[in-house]
Amino acid sequence: MADVRIWPNADELAAQAADFIITSAREAIAARGRFTLVFTGGSTPERAYTLLSQPHMAAQVEWAKCFFFWGDERFVPPDDERSNYGMAWRTLLEPIRASVPMLNIWPMPVEAHGPAQGAGLYAGALAKFFGLPPGADPPSFDLILLGLGDDGHVASLFPGHPTLDVTDQWVVSSPPGTLPPPVDRITLTFPVLNAARQVLFLVAGSNKAEAVQDILEGTPTIQKRPGVGIQPPHGTVTWLLDKDAASKLTK
Ligand code: 6PG
Repeated sequence: MADVRIWPNADELAAQAADFIITSAREAIAARGRFTLVFTGGSTPERAYTLLSQPHMAAQVEWAKCFFFWGDERFVPPDDERSNYGMAWRTLLEPIRASVPMLNIWPMPVEAHGPAQGAGLYAGALAKFFGLPPGADPPSFDLILLGLGDDGHVASLFPGHPTLDVTDQWVVSSPPGTLPPPVDRITLTFPVLNAARQVLFLVAGSNKAEAVQDILEGTPTIQKRPGVGIQPPHGTVTWLLDKDAASKLTK
């Protein structure tokens, strides 16, 4: 059963998201000595990252014990404005760079020959970081942040696409789909997303209301609304919605 929390606007949602990330980091560090966080792209997360970088919030986290990964990436250079790495770097990591060793930052490799090679390299990097052998079960990130597309996509797992069925790879390439900008992407797959200890959805705006309602109250297929496939058997799922995104919920 998902934990659904509704906030008056996207700013309040972003503040709650920043608090959630801080709490999750502190708990993971207390329990296991480190915190592994997966970033998402998108406008709502961007506000949360900016808030987290503010000195009074940033001071609450031992950043040297935090390790940063990405759930999906557009196959563009880091300084391209469409880069999810670039967005997280500008809004959070650059402002706190004095506290974060560069070795803690694990962007998806967009310098590879193509997104398929980049996906393979990232899977290898994850295996190395988590100390897992080939063919092992996927790693459990402490916290995976996700947005939701207005079509119900998560990360770069788009409706009707074969990437939704992947069970034997941790990371795959994904074609542009219907969303602008039309660039190839790299994405974590369901097995990795569902191995998380915590998943936090950040969803704002009335354009998301129909997909949110369908996923939380309906019975759509994963092919139609990929977000419904986020069901970590050993983890929690929390939805932070603004009231526009929640406007079609009936319960
Ligand atoms: C990305 C992600 C995508 C995103 C949703 C929601 O674009 O980086 O791949 O899954 O989280 O499209 O994006 P917004 O929060 O900007 O609406």
